[in-house]
Amino acid sequence: MTLDLTKIRADFPILSRKVNGQPLVYLDNAATSQTPKQVIDVIADYYQRYNANIHRGVHTLSQEATDKFEEARKTVQDHFGIEKTHEIIFTPGTTHSINLVAFGFGSLLKTGDEVIVSALEHHANIVPWQMMCERSGAILRVIPMTDAGTLDMKAYDKLLNDKTKLVFVNHVSNALGTINPIEEIIEKAHAIGAAVLVDGAQACGHIKPNLQKLNVDFYTVSAHKLCGPTGVGILYGKEHWLKKLPPYQGGGEMIDEVTFEKTTYADLPHKFEAGTPNICGGIAFGAALNYMNAVGFEAIGAYEDELLKNATDRLSKIEGLRIYGETERKTAVISFNIDDIHPYDIGTLLDKMGIAVRTGHHCAQPIMDYYKIPGTVRASFAFYNTLEEVDQFVNGVQKATDMLR
Ligand code: ALA
Repeated sequence: MTLDLTKIRADFPILSRKVNGQPLVYLDNAATSQTPKQVIDVIADYYQRYNANIHRGVHTLSQEATDKFEEARKTVQDHFGIEKTHEIIFTPGTTHSINLVAFGFGSLLKTGDEVIVSALEHHANIVPWQMMCERSGAILRVIPMTDAGTLDMKAYDKLLNDKTKLVFVNHVSNALGTINPIEEIIEKAHAIGAAVLVDGAQACGHIKPNLQKLNVDFYTVSAHKLCGPTGVGILYGKEHWLKKLPPYQGGGEMIDEVTFEKTTYADLPHKFEAGTPNICGGIAFGAALNYMNAVGFEAIGAYEDELLKNATDRLSKIEGLRIYGETERKTAVISFNIDDIHPYDIGTLLDKMGIAVRTGHHCAQPIMDYYKIPGTVRASFAFYNTLEEVDQFVNGVQKATDMLR
């Protein structure tokens, strides 16, 4: 199945704008993906027709908003192959989702328990656990990485022991694009009785995981990485885990009964959804999933692989260019440096040509430390990018390099 790029690109109004007088070439999709008009229309429709608080009012608008919000939860359930609707918690995104679980484990773990993180993580899947370890006395162990930007799975085997309670890894590295062997990580953790949280933020715009088949305990998603709005995402958790974890925030909606003597908590998922949620965001998240499913994840994956291969082959011909993360199993992310030119300088010159990339440590400083570099230039592709844009990008990098050398 091939993608109709003309039709797809027409869905994204932002792609036809100019930046610095040049047509925009947007290659910062790992930071945030763009939003199709089908999703923008859903957002406008919400505010124009049925903006109201949910689960609270008897009035029509509130009922309509509640129905749409819960419909979106059902869309998330179907998309990710989740068994029970109440195993889906709407959150402001992956960072919040991870903090919620880390906070909860703080009271479940004790001094001497061990938890395992990987060297390929975004800071959002490192720092909340360090904070949790400080509170609980648990010990943080790290799966080391290899030169190819993959996880050292032999070292992982050695880290697992009867003190290991939890493993948290990303599905895809935001800095390098590496797809981690989460199936194997989950299976091995479960074999010794440890739970696993997978940060799916960078995977879900490219891959459609079935969470029941994966048998993962927790999985996190941010809507803005898959054509939805910012400020909304989910935490998936197996029912028995979500029941075991204490509430993360107190407030309206998450209670059963409140008295000054004692408050009891609401059932799942509301126990973790204190306060007014991002109602419009949740509904738009559902619309984004519908949009991406209509395009088709198989076709998206195959096409992005083609973009990646093409861009990698052509970039590699630039003298002095080094790509970080060279495994076959990766999403369409290319992190690179050229000689000792600072990534920021290349990024700035590319921007002058209308080409958007991210530069810096990508909130993954341990990876940069491993390679002994301050950062990289990162180009991250989406299904609406074209081979012509790859041309513009590679030519732009060559031009920037010639200017800086
Ligand atoms: N985590 C996002 C990125 O990788 C912001 O750029």
